[in-house]
Amino acid sequence: MNPVESVIRPEIRAMATYPVADATGMIKLDAMESPYRLPEDLARELGAVVSGLGLNRYPVPSLARLRQLIRETMGVPSGFDVLCGNGSDECIQYITAACAREGAVVMAPAPSFVMFQMHALFYRLQFVAVPLKPDFALDIEAFLAAIDRHRPALIWLAYPNNPTGSPYSHAEVERIVRAAPGLVVIDEAYQPYAGDSFMRRLPDFANLAVMRTVSKISMAGVRLGYVAASPEWLVEFDKTRAPYNISVLAEAVAIKILENKHVIDALAARVLAERPVVQEGLSKIRGVTQFPSAANFVCVRVPGPPGSGTAVHQKMKAAGVLVRNFDGGHPLMTNCLRLSIGTPDENRAMLAALENALKYTVLRTGPSCD
Ligand SMILES: Cc1ncc(COP(=O)(O)O)c(C=O)c1O
Repeated sequence: MNPVESVIRPEIRAMATYPVADATGMIKLDAMESPYRLPEDLARELGAVVSGLGLNRYPVPSLARLRQLIRETMGVPSGFDVLCGNGSDECIQYITAACAREGAVVMAPAPSFVMFQMHALFYRLQFVAVPLKPDFALDIEAFLAAIDRHRPALIWLAYPNNPTGSPYSHAEVERIVRAAPGLVVIDEAYQPYAGDSFMRRLPDFANLAVMRTVSKISMAGVRLGYVAASPEWLVEFDKTRAPYNISVLAEAVAIKILENKHVIDALAARVLAERPVVQEGLSKIRGVTQFPSAANFVCVRVPGPPGSGTAVHQKMKAAGVLVRNFDGGHPLMTNCLRLSIGTPDENRAMLAALENALKYTVLRTGPSCD
């Protein structure tokens, strides 16, 4: 027998690597990054910071200054702390690892961020996906019933959700936290665009953690996420974290940027100001259904039979605009595309490419798709 086949679990061999499209030369609106780089003066200061680093040494794992800055700038309540991750992707990994008791259940709405399910699979945990409603609202009664039935050790709630952008109601999420027998992690990756947060609610619930990332606010390349929780939770997560997971470079760069947080806040405000412009543009494109968004992206459904989303995606790509295609994945996402908010020019080009692509695919698939 092939040694790879005999060693690697069948479910791992059946998986695909996390897809990252080549965006060379394209308008890149597929991954909810900020379209804005840091201003030159701050970038130059970062250069000076990096040149002064001792790269011969491992990072000091306590990350005291970085954690202090995160607590101060991100509104972490007193008595609570943060544990960093190499992106919040890594926080998902070490939290799942810490909760991976034999037979434990992990639960999340579906569709949602794919890594919740992937890490459950890696750690051989049962993953229960509770479908959203067709309009991507939370099916709160179904979710509460699923909690009752499966007694999950760990619940993930992306708030707002990716890939739908759905802004769940605070009251409904609170009902889930109250009903959960285990840990609830509210993943606030899109909080800078959301206008609501559970961070200030941490003291209200012993089973709540709030996870965030700096990836959506001009720092995706730094790879820094964090989970805010009580020290009792963090001390356990810390044990399943890889040693030295935050590089000396990431630590120093993040400190410098967070010391100037007003700079990235201003960039995020520019992105946020473009969201209604994109939504207004989408409302003028015939046949496109757009879903409410509290994030820096908008999820849309294009008209036509299943597969039309993929055709539109390809056509937009050929026109030099890369968005994310969800057609052919979760059944609720048939013909859905996720459009990150870019600069005003990028957004105009994206809307034009979408409109053009639709003309082309509507022609090819016939009048029934209109
Ligand atoms: C809901 C959600 N959580 C977590 C992540 C991971 O972010 P990162 O690893 O860049 O911090 C993403 C990335 O898109 C996301 O959408």
